[in-house]
Amino acid sequence: MAKIDILVPVRMYPKVAVALEPVFNVHKGWEAENEDAMIAGIGDKVRGIAVGNGGKVGRTLMERLPNLEIISNFGVGYDSIDVAAAVERGIIVTNTPDVLTEEVADTALALLLMTVREYANAERYLRAGKWATDGAYPLSRATLRNRTVGIVGLGRIGLAIARRLDAMQVPVVYNNRNPRSDVTYLHYPDLMTMAKDVDTLMFVLPGGASTQHLVDADLLKALGPEGILINVGRGSAVDEPALIEALTDGTILAAGLDVFAREPHVPEALIALPNVVLTPHIASGSVHTRDAMGKLVVDNLTSWFETGKPVTPVPETPWLRKS
Ligand code: NAP
Ligand code: 8YV
Repeated sequence: MAKIDILVPVRMYPKVAVALEPVFNVHKGWEAENEDAMIAGIGDKVRGIAVGNGGKVGRTLMERLPNLEIISNFGVGYDSIDVAAAVERGIIVTNTPDVLTEEVADTALALLLMTVREYANAERYLRAGKWATDGAYPLSRATLRNRTVGIVGLGRIGLAIARRLDAMQVPVVYNNRNPRSDVTYLHYPDLMTMAKDVDTLMFVLPGGASTQHLVDADLLKALGPEGILINVGRGSAVDEPALIEALTDGTILAAGLDVFAREPHVPEALIALPNVVLTPHIASGSVHTRDAMGKLVVDNLTSWFETGKPVTPVPETPWLRKS
């Protein structure tokens, strides 16, 4: 039987293409001399897409692939895919939930600790030889001991972060649009009210219009001068110029960020600040977890074409059992 054609528009986790190649006809967009011409040539044949690394799958691309059935995304966040356009065309979108939850929660805790206790600055101090010349590293102004963490986005990852904070005896409250019935943490329906009540905000939100710039100058003012912002969700949730201003003038104390508005570009003004910890979108970045994500990308495609059922469809494109 002829192999099914799959488009991989951008360079992504290499093991995905390696696993797809024996089963599918894989077309690599980034290797084509003229991607536009390549898509024109194969457009009618392509039935699946594997995408990651923030590669965009928009309405225009979907229009050029009239027989597209499924878009398999490497990542739990799928804000780079135009899901509304996929829904209109009956295209299934899948993502990689659960397999990365604990890894991302570990990173969130690391960022929180590094930001609160200045571990990165302290390590740089030692490496620069300053311990011997200038004496002990200064005591950190902040501690986790008297903090309350407001988690914005208490979903799979948010809950794994909350469990870690429970073990550390750090009080947790949260803001979701809907309260959860399976937790006892205090739910704040209003983010601004929560920001006024806590000193630490942990953002674990998806990207997209509903979360765009939730962190703005007003929210940072509400968080206050002892305030710490951590973001492992999406950079689009933060108005970066407003954050830089708040970190510079003492409106808040510090921030720890794994995600940025225009990745891989990080504003120089942010990099120059001493009171930020910055990591390059590495929250899920271990071989163990990326392998599990890659496997799920492949499993979604093979399962769809072999059984007509995807493994992990996103809520907007649920699998509807064929009778
Ligand atoms: P999830 O289980 O779907 O959780 C998302 C949570 O956010 C839900 O509890 C949802 O609750 C809440 N939410 C959504 N929109 C909201 C809004 N406008 N205001 C307040 N709360 C809102 O997803 P997850 O698996 O935990 O992943 C969360 C996000 O983390 C991903 O979408 C991705 O963007 C990000 N992520 C980043 C990395 C990284 O490498 N840094 C890795 C993995 C994931 P309600 O629907 O009740 O509001
Ligand atoms: C990945 C992520 O690093 O899952 C997500 O939403 O942001 C990360 O796990 C990213 O998707 C890799 O392209």
